[in-house]
Amino acid sequence: MIDLNEHSSLEMLHSLPLWGKDEKLLSVEPAGESNMNLVLRVNTSIRSVILKQSKPYVRKFPQILAPVNRIEIELCYYQLIEDDDILSGYSPKVIHYNAEHHILLIEDLGNGIDFNTIYAKDYKWDDNDFHSISRYLNALHALEVSNFPDNMEMKKLNHEHLFRFPFLEENGFDLDIVQPGLQKISLKYKTDAEFKAALELLGKRYLAIGTTLLHGDFYPASWLKTENGVKIIDTEFAYMGDSEYDLGVLFAHFDLARMDESYQKTFLQLYQHSYAEDLVNAYRGMEIMRRLIGIAQLPLSLTLAEKKSLLEKARNYILPQ
Ligand SMILES: Nc1ncnc2c1ncn2[C@@H]1O[C@H](COP(=O)(O)OP(=O)(O)OP(=O)(O)O)[C@@H](O)[C@H]1O
Ligand SMILES: [Mg+2]
Repeated sequence: MIDLNEHSSLEMLHSLPLWGKDEKLLSVEPAGESNMNLVLRVNTSIRSVILKQSKPYVRKFPQILAPVNRIEIELCYYQLIEDDDILSGYSPKVIHYNAEHHILLIEDLGNGIDFNTIYAKDYKWDDNDFHSISRYLNALHALEVSNFPDNMEMKKLNHEHLFRFPFLEENGFDLDIVQPGLQKISLKYKTDAEFKAALELLGKRYLAIGTTLLHGDFYPASWLKTENGVKIIDTEFAYMGDSEYDLGVLFAHFDLARMDESYQKTFLQLYQHSYAEDLVNAYRGMEIMRRLIGIAQLPLSLTLAEKKSLLEKARNYILPQ
């Protein structure tokens, strides 16, 4: 495997067996914000493509090992939804896959921006965007899928940051650097045995294999707003699980973005599948908490008091009083 980086030369890229016979490479640049993988936009004499390479580690934090075959999960996922009339319109087309170098070439969806903007105070949802997100999840959870890889190594990596690390009393992550006072607030949950037992059970459930194909990371940074509408990317955490997981994670981000409850209601009115509300809530609570006190922080616009009350709400979602 050739381990590429954002400074790899055009010559080096061109030497890889990814290109047409007479195709010339004209320029290369990072495609956007990314932590896990190398994601480049490559302009050639005939097209512009996105090159995504997974590595045996987290690109931004090379000391953290990660399963190198995660790019195959994306490939599998995109191939599966390619034949679905609805889902295919929301996803980049697969152009080429190279197993030796763990590289996936996908369609360039253009210079879209992700939806991390929803956390801003004055964000106004465009109805079309909101309905796109609803349509996508409806269509995804309707798919009948067999033989999807279990993606267990990625789930274990994720499990650590969803269910364990944020709740360790001594994890070496000083939350006061995120926001002064947050460390003390977090201790209440880190020392709550009953709550942590419930969380542990939920974590086991996350690691189990279910019946619905999930995106697995269905939150604003996986949605791109492009000239051709909303597109959904970054499917490396996909797995067969509880549909409630994607729903819960989604609603957690509604909370983190301080969206009115009516959005969730509308979303569920449009949602065409059955679900267990308590399980949606449990995953929702976990996602709120791990985003507030875990390592994967977001560009939130919440005061300390707002975070405190959200954490309490999240605890009650996981362990209703
Ligand atoms: N098909 C595409 N078309 C246009 N831009 C894209 C495409 N795929 C990715 N990008 C851009 O590259 C960024 C990173 O892509 P992606 O989220 O897939 O990488 P990642 O390394 O898995 O990121 P993360 O660290 O969030 O998991 C996206 O936010 C987007 O800006
Ligand atoms: Mg990713």
